[in-house]
Amino acid sequence: MIPRITIAQTMDVLSSMASLAGYKAVINAADRFPGYFPMMTTAAGTIPPAKVLIIGAGVAGLQAIATAKRLGAMVEVFDVRSAVKEEVESLGARFIEVAGSVEKTEAGGYAVSQSDDYLNRQKSVIHEKALKADVIITTANIPGKKAPLLLEEKTVKGMRAGSVIVDLATESGGNCEVSEDGKEIRYHGVTIIGDSKLYSTMPDNASRLYANNLYNFLKFLIKDKDKPISFDHEIIRKTCLCNPGAD
Ligand code: NAI
Repeated sequence: MIPRITIAQTMDVLSSMASLAGYKAVINAADRFPGYFPMMTTAAGTIPPAKVLIIGAGVAGLQAIATAKRLGAMVEVFDVRSAVKEEVESLGARFIEVAGSVEKTEAGGYAVSQSDDYLNRQKSVIHEKALKADVIITTANIPGKKAPLLLEEKTVKGMRAGSVIVDLATESGGNCEVSEDGKEIRYHGVTIIGDSKLYSTMPDNASRLYANNLYNFLKFLIKDKDKPISFDHEIIRKTCLCNPGAD
């Protein structure tokens, strides 16, 4: 419940875990994908770079973009928040726009639910892009709601055999119609990994970041051990579950 404000960045556990998950999603996809990620020029001919489609450019998505780019893939990205276009492009990826998304400043930088008309148009653009993709990483979430369904079964069926999908939103229902949380499945020759807890496969780094996040939160909370905690700040107000001393 810590608000996503600048002063709270060092306490942001969600960001820490999302960043690890975005990285590992690409590493796992590259491992399952039966080909190179980078363009490879050899005496026997040139192999084109893998095409990676990333849906959702929040913390996990941006880390996935950076990792896929480092491995030499061609990366295309969707998000409903136009604010991320610049960040996506600064990482060297192509931002695909679907006009008419709903954005609300009061959502604190988070995405909000979209209309059925928008989601249908978005699905059809994603369908076209997915048929050409080798790897798809989905990270689209809406806080407190079911994750939007963006990759339909018919899209998965149309993908090339050997393609890989990693769905990081399976805990909240999944972005892919076929994915299952905590499972790796094969469907019409496509490998689909459903995992919302990929950060747990990097326990050393995850624990270190989590510990730092908690430490930074406690440091903010307890400025002076002899003085009571001040409830003036929104970080404290939003994270307080129970305050017996309050009126
Ligand atoms: P998230 O995990 O809630 O969602 C991931 C991404 O999915 C978001 O970028 C969202 O726009 C996108 N999405 C939702 N519905 C979609 C759809 N139908 N199609 C395509 N994409 C869709 O997001 P996360 O990673 O938790 O970040 C949310 C926001 O919080 C971002 O603006 C991020 O920059 C911001 N943030 C701010 C921080 C700070 O200032 N302290 C720290 C961390 C994040």
